[in-house]
Amino acid sequence: MTDIGIGMIGGGYMGKAHSVAMAAVGAVFDTRLRPRLEMIAATSAESAERYRKAFGYQRATADWREVIDDPRVGAIIIATPQKLHREIAEAAFAAGKPVMCEKPMGASLADAEAMVAAAEASGQVNMVAYNYIRTPASQYARQLLREGAIGEITWFRGENAEDFLSDPESPATWRTEGMANGTIGDLAPHMLNAALALMGPIKSLVAELETVHHERPGGKVTNDDQVQMMVRFANGAMGQLHSSRIATGRKMGYAYEIHGTKGAIRFDQEDQNSLWLYRATGPEAERGYTKILTGPAHPDYRPFCLGPGHGTGYQDQIIIEAKDFLEAIAEGTPRWPTFRDGLDVVRVIHAAIESARSRTWQDL
Ligand code: NAI
Repeated sequence: MTDIGIGMIGGGYMGKAHSVAMAAVGAVFDTRLRPRLEMIAATSAESAERYRKAFGYQRATADWREVIDDPRVGAIIIATPQKLHREIAEAAFAAGKPVMCEKPMGASLADAEAMVAAAEASGQVNMVAYNYIRTPASQYARQLLREGAIGEITWFRGENAEDFLSDPESPATWRTEGMANGTIGDLAPHMLNAALALMGPIKSLVAELETVHHERPGGKVTNDDQVQMMVRFANGAMGQLHSSRIATGRKMGYAYEIHGTKGAIRFDQEDQNSLWLYRATGPEAERGYTKILTGPAHPDYRPFCLGPGHGTGYQDQIIIEAKDFLEAIAEGTPRWPTFRDGLDVVRVIHAAIESARSRTWQDL
């Protein structure tokens, strides 16, 4: 067993989640590579020091370049707003260090393309942090689809609906400025990543974006509150996607329903330990969706708990992600979703923005 120094850039919502995951992953998954919380960077020396103390890092800095250049740091996690992803990733790859970057990977299509080029030129492990698809339930849904459990797929409905900005009096933040931080740029990527993982590539789409609350205390809103999309997948299936940050009442409405010729699958992140499966077999009178409670029989559940139905939570998805990143580094082989996979999501985002602007279907 060897250890690896973790360099964390950003200590906010996701910086904390990744720090907690890196502190716990060795014990949960008995990983070959054991992370050591080496250095954390934030916008000021004071906030970085506060995060260092709270999360248990050795050192703190207000200059993220120090983290990248430090010889004791062996892997970088980018947990800053999207406008910084590219610069930090390029510097990390130039220094020969593997990178896990928060979604959506950069602030534009050009950023995402440059990040893929830098990652691939360096030959370093690279991963985009799409955590929701890593729940045992969603991993099992992927497995069922691969095995053809519901036959030929005809329809996908996906949504990522939350209400954290449903109150028009919620103040303006970095999330209310710039296309990369709006619903299509910041929230929809999770559902688009799920759609690509569950269904395969999107062939064409038409989209609408809407800003409902144009002004908030502290500033004007320059990006979208909600988005809807009609898509055609390369496998021939139709799909509908909806994302919102003003969906009053929805707290973590990352949900999908998939219909096939022999059955259907349904999932809702607000009930993340359940997967609903319908098999179109047996007596008509006994047919119906079955609620499958996740347990040790499902991917990545057993290391957390031997009891079926006891459940895993949000932080556990990040621990699973940390395990995959560390395994990729230990083996020197990439783990899905790589930066190139992340670029596929950004291409869909870009096409959706273009579709909404021109009010036309876009081919991908
Ligand atoms: P946040 O605002 O809570 O934290 C951002 C952090 O970045 C702060 O600690 C700040 O100090 C740091 N930062 C900003 N500029 C910096 C600089 N120049 N140098 C060093 N540190 C700097 O933001 P949050 O919510 O953690 O979002 C960060 C990223 O995570 C975004 O890309 C966002 O899209 C993604 N995200 C992912 C989620 C998921 O479930 N996978 C959920 C929430 C956000």
